[in-house]
Amino acid sequence: MSGSDPSQCPVIVTNSDAFYLDPDSALPEGPRPAVARSEYGYEFLSYPVVRQAFRDKRMQPRDVDYFRSIGASEIILEFIRDGNLNFMAPDKHDRIRPILVKAFTTSRVDSFRPEMRRIANGLIDRFIGEGHADLVGQFCHEYPISVISQFVGLPGEDVPEVAAATMHLRMLGQKPFEPGMPVLEKALRYLFGHISQVVDARRAAPPRDDFLGALIELWDGDDQLTDGELVWSVSFMLLGGHDTTRYTLSGSLVSVLEAGLWEQLAADPAPIPDVIADSMRLHPGTPRQMRVVHEPLEVAGHVLVPGDLVSLNMSAAGRDPAVFDDAASLHCPRSDPAYDIGFGFGRFACIGQTLARVEMAEAIGALTRRLANVELAGELRLKPTGVVAGFDSIPVRFIARAEQPSG
Ligand code: HEM
Repeated sequence: MSGSDPSQCPVIVTNSDAFYLDPDSALPEGPRPAVARSEYGYEFLSYPVVRQAFRDKRMQPRDVDYFRSIGASEIILEFIRDGNLNFMAPDKHDRIRPILVKAFTTSRVDSFRPEMRRIANGLIDRFIGEGHADLVGQFCHEYPISVISQFVGLPGEDVPEVAAATMHLRMLGQKPFEPGMPVLEKALRYLFGHISQVVDARRAAPPRDDFLGALIELWDGDDQLTDGELVWSVSFMLLGGHDTTRYTLSGSLVSVLEAGLWEQLAADPAPIPDVIADSMRLHPGTPRQMRVVHEPLEVAGHVLVPGDLVSLNMSAAGRDPAVFDDAASLHCPRSDPAYDIGFGFGRFACIGQTLARVEMAEAIGALTRRLANVELAGELRLKPTGVVAGFDSIPVRFIARAEQPSG
């Protein structure tokens, strides 16, 4: 295999507000490179290169050995091995993924819409009288964890404790890793114990036609799957469905405000799904996915070797000017190719994406219906780093609409 020396790639800094808000501002002058290097390893920046890389089996997500190498303890390794689809061994991943997909039916997601609306309206009720709010702290944070835990089938009254434990699972991505381990272990012990109890109670009661009911039935029908794998997989649903949706939803709300679409969407919510789709391109809640090279490969003239780390940079790919017209602006819908990697692509593509799209649309629907004259009341604050990132604070002022929605 021939190619240029990879160390010749431009070196860029991606852990910054500037990169998150406008990746091109952090790139060298001149034509945009397809590949660069950063603190994460190689950065794939072009949309076609990132899209192709999602399907390239010569690059794989990090695995349990990576976590062992950074000193993870046994309970953390057990979660990674038995429930964390992002990192589990390929044979187990390919056994568990189809079962989870089967339980995530579109009709099950659709029939949960009234519950999503109830959760959204309950959160709005808490601050609507104030005339101001932080849309992240007071809405985007709690909404997704309430939706995912109740969609999965955990009792609503458990949400605060479950949310608190799930928040700590973020520490899986922390550097350095070891200082956060005791908190992570405690959260995992709580989730394992709590979800095991819920599963036991459900098995002892008449079957219910919800996500957990379907999962228990599918699990019990497969003699290779263990109860531990069921409990850890449910724990992973909570992790997969929380911060990702929180940041993607906050990005969509910023897009709506920036594009001046609030009142239009209040009057006609039909374009909300298109707004979310194009906002995921501009303000992704998962701005990168990490891969490890397993076999040598050549990308845009650069040779990568086993062990190299690759960041599939969705922030940059989403604004690739060679693909997207007027790439820095929201277009709903777009006339150029639709951005289709916001939920990943290929073998590891997000299995919660139907739920996420519907729950974000319900949230934006409820907020636009109930709040009028919404305007920024302070600085937007960002968490620009990591695999999950985005707007951490959206302070707004508003007036409550006279006509309040039902349900
Ligand atoms: C807007 C919200 C969301 C975004 C942006 C998002 C994004 C992603 C991305 C980019 C991947 C691919 C990871 C990779 O290629 O390594 C992924 C995988 C995954 N997501 Fe999501 N996700 C969201 C919501 C959810 C929800 C609500 C759930 C579950 C309830 C969920 C569960 C999963 C799971 C289980 C995987 C692993 C799939 C596999 O490896 O086979 N996600 N997600």
